[in-house]
Amino acid sequence: MNKEDILLKTEAFIKNKMKDYDSGHDWWHIVRVRNLARMINSRENLEDPFLVEMAALLHDYSDSKFAGTTAADETETLRVFLMECTVNENSINRILNVMHYISFSSRNKSGKKEDVLLDIIQDADRLDAIGAIGIARAFNYGGFRNNRIYSPDENENKRSTIRHFDDKLLLLKSLMNTVTARQLAKTRHKYMEDFLSQFHKEWNLSDF
Ligand code: ADP
Ligand code: NI
Repeated sequence: MNKEDILLKTEAFIKNKMKDYDSGHDWWHIVRVRNLARMINSRENLEDPFLVEMAALLHDYSDSKFAGTTAADETETLRVFLMECTVNENSINRILNVMHYISFSSRNKSGKKEDVLLDIIQDADRLDAIGAIGIARAFNYGGFRNNRIYSPDENENKRSTIRHFDDKLLLLKSLMNTVTARQLAKTRHKYMEDFLSQFHKEWNLSDF
């Protein structure tokens, strides 16, 4: 199969897989991550553009929050799909490494292979979790889970979406791997800080 056909087949494959995910994890998240990853790679010329596209398309293939089957079954299904697409074994292993280790929660899991492909896709995924889009996605996810937006009660606030900014979103800026992502993260991070500051001002009626 030629690269263009493989990419088209992979698009259809992942669109079908993600149709039941929440709208913050939908096909348009994949498109944004692909565009960001392309942009990082074209600026820094780090990796084969075809592999960047493939890894971006497949990075959320196995998301434990939505997966119906076990992680091992999912990995096997994806491996078979990629073999049918005639992707070579080394590339398959690198794509699976991205899928397994991209997430914030698995950043310290054992077995990870350091790889610039993972660095690029991870940065793209993290950039899509911060800034205005990151804010929209966080509240969308919180709504999907029926979480509170915020609570002044410390205990109740532990599961709120505002708390998710402290737990994760405000940490991402300093975890970027590439120079391009670090630059872009600065503006997006500042936007979240301004949002949180305004949010608390409004909550406390100190915005006038
Ligand atoms: P990762 O897989 O890197 O740990 P997730 O898949 O948990 O990341 O997060 C994906 C998206 O869902 C992000 O935009 C993230 O901000 C949002 N999200 C995840 N958990 C929460 C939460 N508890 N509250 C609000 N948003 C969340
Ligand atoms: Ni993602």
